[in-house]
Amino acid sequence: MAVEGDHLAVEPVQRPQPEVAVLGQLGEAEVALEGALEQGPDRPGLEEDVRARSRCSSDRRSDSTCSDLIQRSSSTGGILPDGPSGGLASVLGVGAIELRGVVKSFGPIRAVDGLDLDVPEGICLGLLGPNGAGKSTTMRLLTGQAIADAGELRVLGHELPRQSKEARALMGVVPQLDNLDIDVTVEDNLAVYARLYRVRDVGAAVDKALDIARLRDRRRDAVEKLSGGMRRRLLLARGLVHEPRLVLLDEPTVGLDPQIRTELWTLIGALKARGTTILMSTHYIEEAERLADEVAVMHEGKVISRGSPSELIATHAGRQTAEVYAPPQRLAELRAEAEAAGLRVRAAGPAIAIVGSERAENGTVPADAVVRAATLEDVFVLLTGEEAE
Ligand SMILES: Nc1ncnc2c1ncn2[C@@H]1O[C@H](COP(=O)(O)OP(=O)(O)OP(=O)(O)O)[C@@H](O)[C@H]1O
Ligand SMILES: [Mg+2]
Repeated sequence: MAVEGDHLAVEPVQRPQPEVAVLGQLGEAEVALEGALEQGPDRPGLEEDVRARSRCSSDRRSDSTCSDLIQRSSSTGGILPDGPSGGLASVLGVGAIELRGVVKSFGPIRAVDGLDLDVPEGICLGLLGPNGAGKSTTMRLLTGQAIADAGELRVLGHELPRQSKEARALMGVVPQLDNLDIDVTVEDNLAVYARLYRVRDVGAAVDKALDIARLRDRRRDAVEKLSGGMRRRLLLARGLVHEPRLVLLDEPTVGLDPQIRTELWTLIGALKARGTTILMSTHYIEEAERLADEVAVMHEGKVISRGSPSELIATHAGRQTAEVYAPPQRLAELRAEAEAAGLRVRAAGPAIAIVGSERAENGTVPADAVVRAATLEDVFVLLTGEEAE
């Protein structure tokens, strides 16, 4: 990330910490971040004022709680306690992300098509969808990189696009592509971000991020000496250096080998345990199953179903799935029979999967079928018609 020299020289000012980090397919957001931080309001507490006022007005709350919060915000330079679990949004019990009827088209393509999405604070919501479902576009709308054609968008109480400048000033960005500064040390990569975000105690923030990345003993190494997995951990830790309350992960592990993916899952799991709100887009079923408290299945620009993985499985798939392996002709016959008996059948590579097979009459499922517990993958394929990854 290009950072002006004099930017680095600026002493961190007392300023509330940004709240949103982005990890994934969001390269240019960094540029927006730098611009926003440079142009953004510098007065301590101003961001808190904006948040308090916007929250209270958007909730049409004029009660004493709201005015108290605004007053405290203005007089103390911000009311956010340290760490991700505090903050005005959680004090007021509002959603971290609130989208209503959001539409975004690119020419004839409706990438986001009337999207309603709420992400309450403290959960990890997995946005699961096939290629082109609109996941990245949704992320870009949330970061202010794209402007919606219609609908209402709020991020931690900031209304977009009206308050996108304020919202952007609160965002941390880690792109999917590794853009760490390879010429400087691990700790300097983190310190640059901590300063950009006006973190109060840069040294402590860097130490914490090094612990997250498990790179304390490599802090003085140049980034180019790190392994691929270490670089990925550093990239994630860099996005967390300011302890955001909300993290957007746009396909955080796409294209990574299984070991690095597992490492990142551990890091994201730790983030969840700290109470950080996470919106994570993915098309890896396992990623959503392991990390998401709730999954929203996105298809053609809309959320078509949402719930915890077990709720989705119970609602759409049932308890058991029977996989049948046979020559194509035989599979076609079995499929027709099962569907005639009212069962749902999906392709599963060289097999067919008879979903909800516990409801099958005797004889509908061949004796040599492999019966297993129903999975989120069954749900995904039934709902989207796409084979899962
Ligand atoms: N800048 C753009 N210009 C034109 N079309 C776009 C643009 N960005 C996205 N689209 C289109 O919008 C649709 C949704 O794209 P998006 O990147 O949001 O999908 P996605 O769910 O993130 O898919 P993937 O899983 O492949 O990353 C696609 O048809 C895509 O081609
Ligand atoms: Mg995408």
